[in-house]
Amino acid sequence: AASPTAMGCGAGGRGRLLLTVAAVLTLLTRPPGSWGARIIGGHQVTPHSRPYMASVRFKGEHFCGGFLLRARWVVSAAHCFRDRDPRADLVVLGAHALRVAEPTQQVLGVSAVVSHPDYQPATHANDICLLGGGLNSSAVLGPAVGLLKLPRSGARPPRAGTLCRVAGWGSVSDFEDQPPGLMEAEVRVLGLDACNRSWTGRLKPAMLCTHSEDSQRRGFCSADSGGPLVCRNRAHGLVSFSGLWCGDPKTPDVYTQVSAFVSWIWDVVRQRPHGPQPSPPGVPAGAA
Ligand SMILES: *[C@@H]1O[C@H](CO)[C@@H](O)[C@H](O)[C@H]1NC(C)=O
Ligand SMILES: *[C@@H]1O[C@H](CO)[C@@H](O)[C@H](O)[C@H]1NC(C)=O
Repeated sequence: AASPTAMGCGAGGRGRLLLTVAAVLTLLTRPPGSWGARIIGGHQVTPHSRPYMASVRFKGEHFCGGFLLRARWVVSAAHCFRDRDPRADLVVLGAHALRVAEPTQQVLGVSAVVSHPDYQPATHANDICLLGGGLNSSAVLGPAVGLLKLPRSGARPPRAGTLCRVAGWGSVSDFEDQPPGLMEAEVRVLGLDACNRSWTGRLKPAMLCTHSEDSQRRGFCSADSGGPLVCRNRAHGLVSFSGLWCGDPKTPDVYTQVSAFVSWIWDVVRQRPHGPQPSPPGVPAGAA
């Protein structure tokens, strides 16, 4: 059942709009990351039932999601790591309520971020990165910490209408409450052409869209970035960007289409079985 706490990100939006009038135009294509707060139209999951979920923190604050692919590799979105020294980042695994000192939590350092060499901030194309081997030690797999599978290499993206789920912890924005625990929404895949029309032709290949299956707003919001869209138990999408109002059907949620990056991911993982060497800031690592 839907939790009454899962309110839309638009609530309270007027106040925020007034505070950021100058930024409004750019927000239309802005990745979620500092606007609104949480998975919307969703519900709290059973604690630790999504053991692959990672909370990525910068200076102690959750700012993006991700998922555990291998004991030393987390997949997330490249836009989360722009202009950021990854050595200030931490990955928290095994969490449900982020502010609680849960015994299941494992905190790992990030020593390198391998962003896709063709990531384009202006269009959000190829918005994917690997935190990996960059994790300074190995996750210990168990009931609360586990791996999520990629789609098979070359797999087609899920068809329009496929039911998937997206989870995240939302943000610690000044304007929104924290969710009580990991939240998740059920969403349906929207055909890329229809989605591209809604986005007035601004979408690039290797993107995937979802929308709500009914009139309720559902989807991701700020600080859910990098988290997986799970369809048939595989990570088919990574939260990339949405419109000004979270869950707004006029601007469907857009994800990185993971199946287009499966060989890139395995190339990076195989080349760096013990993890990447720390890369100097500004130099895209793994640009193979
Ligand atoms: C990894 O990094 C975290 C955060 O910086 C630190 O607390 C932990 O001790 C480190 N672990 C190892 C094995 O270096
Ligand atoms: C979206 O539409 C624009 C304009 O028609 C087109 O140039 C672009 O290739 C389309 N994107 C995708 C992913 O189909």
